[in-house]
Amino acid sequence: MKKHDLITLEDGLSLKRQDIKDLFKRYMNPSLATMMGLLGFDKRFVRAEGVRVWDEDGVEYLDFLGGYGALNFGHNDPRLNAALERVNTAPNLLQASLGTLSAVLAHNLAAIMPDGLQRSFFSNSGAEAVEGALKLAKAATKKKRIVYCEGAFHGKTMGALSVTGRSKYQAPFAPLVPECVMVPFGDQGALDLELGKGEAAAVILEAIQGEGGVRIPPAGYMEEVRRLCKQYGALMIVDEIQTGFGRTGTIFACEQEKVIPDVICTAKSLGGGVVPVSAFTTTEEIWDKAYGGFDRCLLHTSTFGGNTRAAAAGIAAIQILVDDDLASRAREQGAYLLERLDQLSRRFPNFIKEVRGRGLLIGVEFNPLAGGILNKVTGGKINQIADEYLGGIVAAELMNNYQVITAYTLNNPNVIRLEPPLIVSREQLDHLLHALEDMFQKYQSMWKLVLASGKRLITG
Ligand SMILES: Cc1ncc(COP(=O)(O)O)c(C=O)c1O
Repeated sequence: MKKHDLITLEDGLSLKRQDIKDLFKRYMNPSLATMMGLLGFDKRFVRAEGVRVWDEDGVEYLDFLGGYGALNFGHNDPRLNAALERVNTAPNLLQASLGTLSAVLAHNLAAIMPDGLQRSFFSNSGAEAVEGALKLAKAATKKKRIVYCEGAFHGKTMGALSVTGRSKYQAPFAPLVPECVMVPFGDQGALDLELGKGEAAAVILEAIQGEGGVRIPPAGYMEEVRRLCKQYGALMIVDEIQTGFGRTGTIFACEQEKVIPDVICTAKSLGGGVVPVSAFTTTEEIWDKAYGGFDRCLLHTSTFGGNTRAAAAGIAAIQILVDDDLASRAREQGAYLLERLDQLSRRFPNFIKEVRGRGLLIGVEFNPLAGGILNKVTGGKINQIADEYLGGIVAAELMNNYQVITAYTLNNPNVIRLEPPLIVSREQLDHLLHALEDMFQKYQSMWKLVLASGKRLITG
């Protein structure tokens, strides 16, 4: 038999930073590895607890990225690990049964959802939950068109990408799913015009656009979307994949808009940050229209959806959310952070264009760099960097010089997101605030910061 050259789990865990980089370059995505390296985002982290993570040299960092919203409960909450251990002798997958715990998770999800949202379908990623919601809308309404918002992010699989409002991600994959129509986010007139054509199966939107740069719609917009969807017979799908599970100060962000959608998509923190779990949840009536009857009940399925470990993690995650009242915590800590960031933005207007957010989903938008002579000297690279990496450069500085982990938002690279676990302490928030203040004082202008911290990107 051929002897395979395998790396054991034990050996894998003790690889060094450079070994991992080499493997990543050779067997995964070499350009991504190079880009991450230029930003200093290629450290090897070996331990994590709550908001804190440690690299291989024992240096401690604060995680303000929070798994893009998947770590609302922090890293490795012992209650989540205990839930996984509790089921480690049960069958994880046994499709010739109804599943051990998925019905319990569906019950508990319905218990925290807005009234009437009761039937859930489980899958494994945010994009898959979106795919499921779009299919549900088509099957339930027998219409074809999906309306989505400019700047929206719903994932990168074909259907989810077709309703993700950034051409950089869409263009290379055309043609996408037909009959997906984009409208400006927050513009109820444009939505009225589009829905008035009577062809829409659904409108999909985020209550707050996360990857769009933490954009909050104008007051009353969500209520108007709700009214228009009802009027024209389209389903209202709210994507709470990033905003859900306490992140914005209530369990779901749409609660603050006093809106009950027809479908809510969840993922990320639903699995407690330890197992991938996602879901779409809808009413009995809509579910039955789409999938009622023997000939329709298998139209949408997933091998791993609702597996025992995933469901156990979801059950434990919801329990922690409720027991620890993490939504209130996010509201209080978020109000403090937002106020202090607002003060910083007034002291350093040359850096910060705007600070916005709700609860612990906060975006800091930086002033774009205007081209000028330096842009010419660098062969246009400065403008390119300003367009795509400004937030990344600030995030790199925070990571490498202040041990604070953040990242830019995918659809608006001038924004860094602050999205720590909801258990973050005042002292940890103050550490971030001091880091930003020190950085602005040290560099005095965005130009100096970009030239110092981004020079490897310019020359690389
Ligand atoms: C609002 C929203 N929807 C969908 C997704 C896609 O989730 P996933 O990456 O798990 O497919 C994301 C991911 O960031 C998101 O923020």
